[in-house]
Amino acid sequence: MASADYTLRGAIAVITLDNPPVNALGLGVRQGVADALERAQADAAVSAVVLTGTGATFCGGADVSEFGLPAMIAAPHLTDLCDLVEGFPKPVIAALNGLALGGGLELAMCCHYRVALAAAQVGLPEVKLGILPGAGGTQRLPRLAGPERALNMIVSGTPVSARELAHTELLDQIVEADVVPAAVEYARRAVDEKLPLKKTRDLKIHFPNAEAFFDFARAAVAPLAKNYPAPGKCIDAVEAAVLRPFDDGMKVERAAFTELLGSSESKALRHVFFAIRAASKIPDVPSGTPQRPIGSVAVIGAGTMGGGIAMNFANAGVPVTVLETTQAALDKGLGVVRKNYEGTLKKGRLSQKDFDKRLGLIKGTLSYDEIARADLVIEAVFEDMQVKKQVFETLDAKVKAGAILASNTSTLDLDKIAGYTQRPGDVVGLHFFSPANVTKLLEIVRGAKTADDVLATSLGIAKQIKKIGVVAGVCDGFIGNRMLNSYFRQMDFLLDEGALPLEIDKALEAFGFAMGPFRVADLAGNDIGWAIRKRLYAEHPERAFSRIPDLICELGRFGQKTGAGWYDYKPGERNPLPSEVVTKIILEESSRLGRARREIGAEEIVERALYALINEGAQILEEGIAQRASDIDVVYIAGYGFPDFRGGPMFYADSVGLPNILRAMRSFAKGYQPDAWRPAPLLAKLAAENGSFAGWRKQS
Ligand SMILES: NC(=O)c1ccc[n+]([C@@H]2O[C@H](COP(=O)([O-])OP(=O)(O)OC[C@H]3O[C@@H](n4cnc5c(N)ncnc54)[C@H](O)[C@@H]3O)[C@@H](O)[C@H]2O)c1
Repeated sequence: MASADYTLRGAIAVITLDNPPVNALGLGVRQGVADALERAQADAAVSAVVLTGTGATFCGGADVSEFGLPAMIAAPHLTDLCDLVEGFPKPVIAALNGLALGGGLELAMCCHYRVALAAAQVGLPEVKLGILPGAGGTQRLPRLAGPERALNMIVSGTPVSARELAHTELLDQIVEADVVPAAVEYARRAVDEKLPLKKTRDLKIHFPNAEAFFDFARAAVAPLAKNYPAPGKCIDAVEAAVLRPFDDGMKVERAAFTELLGSSESKALRHVFFAIRAASKIPDVPSGTPQRPIGSVAVIGAGTMGGGIAMNFANAGVPVTVLETTQAALDKGLGVVRKNYEGTLKKGRLSQKDFDKRLGLIKGTLSYDEIARADLVIEAVFEDMQVKKQVFETLDAKVKAGAILASNTSTLDLDKIAGYTQRPGDVVGLHFFSPANVTKLLEIVRGAKTADDVLATSLGIAKQIKKIGVVAGVCDGFIGNRMLNSYFRQMDFLLDEGALPLEIDKALEAFGFAMGPFRVADLAGNDIGWAIRKRLYAEHPERAFSRIPDLICELGRFGQKTGAGWYDYKPGERNPLPSEVVTKIILEESSRLGRARREIGAEEIVERALYALINEGAQILEEGIAQRASDIDVVYIAGYGFPDFRGGPMFYADSVGLPNILRAMRSFAKGYQPDAWRPAPLLAKLAAENGSFAGWRKQS
């Protein structure tokens, strides 16, 4: 149970936060610490206290699962505990045995002295959840680490190693090992030498350049301030720490904390935090399912995706063998990988040693014999079922039993691919997103026969290569691309009716998307969407599409790679310029359709884009292709540039209100494409019940 352990080492009481995995400061731990302090105070034989954490962590901070619940504000509150420690009548020494984050660091800063393991990391990451430290962190860190360093840490949320903070007042002693004995020794010395009970709140800050410094800091965060209010509030609070008495500064911090906690941005960011955690759980695959060891990997195909996929494993220290059909294709693919690493080396983001090591881990081959012992094979050949068939039949014949056989297919039926082997349980989809060495998302496609341990291992692989894995069922486009097809279709209709690419891109970028749909298409290559549409025309003759994207492709305007797409590009530049050719095509098509073009406002553009995504998302959820609504949110944030401060499409839908969305969809259906606005049954049902996607569970 979450609590705090109490032991005596002679006259020193050692209080140990005990709430694995990160000793979060839930109500049980807070109560445990308060009780332990009371005991230490009452015991005349105790002369000092050491505060530390179990395992390799001091304390990961507040228990975020308590946010918004009564336990969060139940006494003792973290601020009560901080006051108790700071005002304690006997010396309290923090022994930072590992990570000290958020509330954990705030508590440590109330101790009279701090001893830290050199490798321990300390930080105040609250800003990443759209809030700021709410238990005095913004007031005490500037007093201990100096305003500049404190502001950097609070505004970025990035932890810093104890070693880097060795010369600040934050840390009184740094040790390489055995931090608790060192802190006990420090406590004895504090008693013997009658060291003062240093209260951080009483420290004075001398910072003559305050005004210029805070002006500069505000200018630095201004471009993001509209969508992320927390960094600006962090600056206000640190400024108050510098310019005003401690208690006034605490009031500034408290008011900002309360305001931010209720902000839509923070609610969305906290949702994303939990959504990412939830995505790594599969309801019908127990969490303890053993994983297959992955010590070596093979990638089939050294094209756009294969090279990037191989880099992920080399970056994680896993040897990769890349297989191609010809030496020329192999040389070309591995050449791109080398160039990629060289770019990072030149930018100083990779050391020569790591450059050599990573390149050394990637080998090329033309022979299946050389990949026969691989633990994991990822196929990334042409998107053609006949080619996949030949590859999987060969893998089945050549690769050792127990290896995981994965396909990176975007659209093909994984169950059919698995059927080309005698071991469909070992087959899974590992769907990477371009650029595969960069984009965080990994869709893990679960076939009808994919074994539980293969799925558990796939989630482990995602972690190993620092991706966010989300499980998807088999369907055309899985979660992400299936929704994207509906989104693009709707954006193309807007062109028929009156909008231009730049207006649409601007509206969605103002909403928060990293890039609007037409800029994305020009980057990814318009030929990819064209191929998908041609297939959809054949498979879904009943479905309406705008002709405009095909007309653009017929001119060879495939995007940046051909120097022209939805936009024009100057040679060697990536800046999109509105194209007269494209505008002419759009106007002609409207007139051919007999449409009187009208002004379409940003609000309608955003609603039609979002509601197209949401409606398809509802369908995907009901079909069980996504396990939960929040998984869809993770897919869009980690893979499609959806703004995290909006929480993902399904979270956004719940916050707009499903009845409102349904109403808007009914009004759009009165326009030109009624079929595109047929509500997904789940959306209609939940809207009628005033329900939400977050609260819905599929009955099995
Ligand atoms: N490009 C993307 O943005 C993207 C994103 C996600 C998934 N995918 C999927 O990844 C796969 C590969 O796509 P890509 O864009 O890298 O294609 P690509 O055309 O760039 O590369 C394919 C490579 O596979 C090689 N190849 C073909 N047949 C082979 C065989 N039998 N054995 C070994 N190598 C063979 C080719 O020589 C080529 O180098 C496809 O299934 C595609 O749908 C692509």
